Amino acid sequence: MKYFSRLLVVAIAFGSFVRGGSAADDAVIQATLTIHADRPVATIAPEIYGQFAEHLGQGMYGGLWVGRHSNIPNLRGFRKDVVGALRVLGVPVVRWPGGCFADQYHWRDGIGLPARRPVRVNTTWGGVEESNAVGIHEYMDLMSQLGSKSYIDSNVGTGSPQETKDWLEYMTSPSHSALAQERRRNGRAPPWRLDYWAFGNELWGCGGNMRPQVYADLFHWYATFAKTPADNTPLWIAAGGYGDDASFTDALMASDVKAHQIGAVTLHHFALPQGNFDGPKGPATGFGEDQWMSIMRRTLALDGMIAAHSAVMDKYDPQKRVALFVDEWSNWYDVEPGTNPGFLHQQNTLRDALTAALSLDIFHAHADRVRMACITQMVNVLQAMIHTDGPRMMLTPTYHVYMMYKPFRGATDLSIDLATPDYVYGGQSVAAIHASVARGADGHLILALTNIDPHRAAHVAATVAGLQSVSGTILTADAMDAHNTFDRPDAVKPAAFHGATLVGSALNVDMPAKSLVVLELR
Ligand code: AHR
Repeated sequence: MKYFSRLLVVAIAFGSFVRGGSAADDAVIQATLTIHADRPVATIAPEIYGQFAEHLGQGMYGGLWVGRHSNIPNLRGFRKDVVGALRVLGVPVVRWPGGCFADQYHWRDGIGLPARRPVRVNTTWGGVEESNAVGIHEYMDLMSQLGSKSYIDSNVGTGSPQETKDWLEYMTSPSHSALAQERRRNGRAPPWRLDYWAFGNELWGCGGNMRPQVYADLFHWYATFAKTPADNTPLWIAAGGYGDDASFTDALMASDVKAHQIGAVTLHHFALPQGNFDGPKGPATGFGEDQWMSIMRRTLALDGMIAAHSAVMDKYDPQKRVALFVDEWSNWYDVEPGTNPGFLHQQNTLRDALTAALSLDIFHAHADRVRMACITQMVNVLQAMIHTDGPRMMLTPTYHVYMMYKPFRGATDLSIDLATPDYVYGGQSVAAIHASVARGADGHLILALTNIDPHRAAHVAATVAGLQSVSGTILTADAMDAHNTFDRPDAVKPAAFHGATLVGSALNVDMPAKSLVVLELR
């Protein structure tokens, strides 16, 4: 598996004696990018740009759903402003209803007349009342409003194979069975199309604190009774491990050698400033450079984790039939002061934007195995795309990265070598420049470059044959924690980029410190 191979050019970057020039130039990072156009990695699945909407804090209620009778403009209960912004972005797939919420969710609570739906307590997230105003019908309506594929994460922890079997029959049966007729009485005549279906979430933790082999057995037990029409069978997803721990991946893959029921195994990874969930995590804004470096390092660790999980999968499945879905990933900080700790609401800064770019680069580089990734989460929760405050809505820097990276969806990732100096801080070092290159269907190239050094501008030189023009956008800001607010919603947003030149086959890019540039070469 390729990722960025770094060469020893640190001396070149620091040494004016090597290349002369002014004192100001000495601070400029010099990097060289080699694109291997003849070494395609794989098609970048659009679902790598998937998202996650859990019943958590204001992720669903308030953020997406305001109800039909709200003063906030809505279509059948979903906010028009938020859905509109997400439609512009294009969301290939939305994972729902959890997360940890999934293993306490009973689908029958969310069907029928809203006034008759039972109120439950969301014991995982803030102990708040769950009205069940959003259930299957509403979620599937949201998928049609967004034009997204469906991904339901079903309940294993407090569910049963019978409950799952009935849920699937209710949604997919074209027959006149009692469950299909109940669906019709509830307002949906044709079966829904189901794209992805997972059995449980984080079974090693909030899903039931199980051992890998126990869950592997449960997966096959549930999957055996998960019946759908042959032309409407979702991809079955097994809930895998976290971070470096590949024990779930191993047990699941071993269990599937004969059964062939698993379509994808999942992996979760969060980047926390302090590296773990014990004690304070660190703030989303107002952090020092130590925490900038820490988040960069922990984000980049995802590359090795995916490589390790892929290697385990290769043992059982060298043809890569089973996909790895990184269906929860993001940065995770302390909640904003004064907000409910169970709502996981955090600000979103330039730091999050750049790590989103690094993560997407990593998914591209592993596109042969990683065929879905869902950022955690879509609205108001953790590293969200959008924040809302009553009737107000604001796009985060992470939303802008997803817009800038849109041309990568469905393109073919190309192998690259990147010779870059390191960014060094506090005795830690990581590559300063990161990149992703892909070829679009019509032959044009898409190139993303991220400079994570918060102090030094960068010059990147590349050779590209047979292309005539270059255009692009840049995302940057003065401060490491620059962010948007409801009063200044455009403080961090992309701008046209004029720092790239293409002369013959020589591409030269001059980019500022802590910036992301995405170029299209035609
Ligand atoms: O995304 C928030 C939570 O993080 C999810 O519910 C859980 O799956 C993960 O640990």
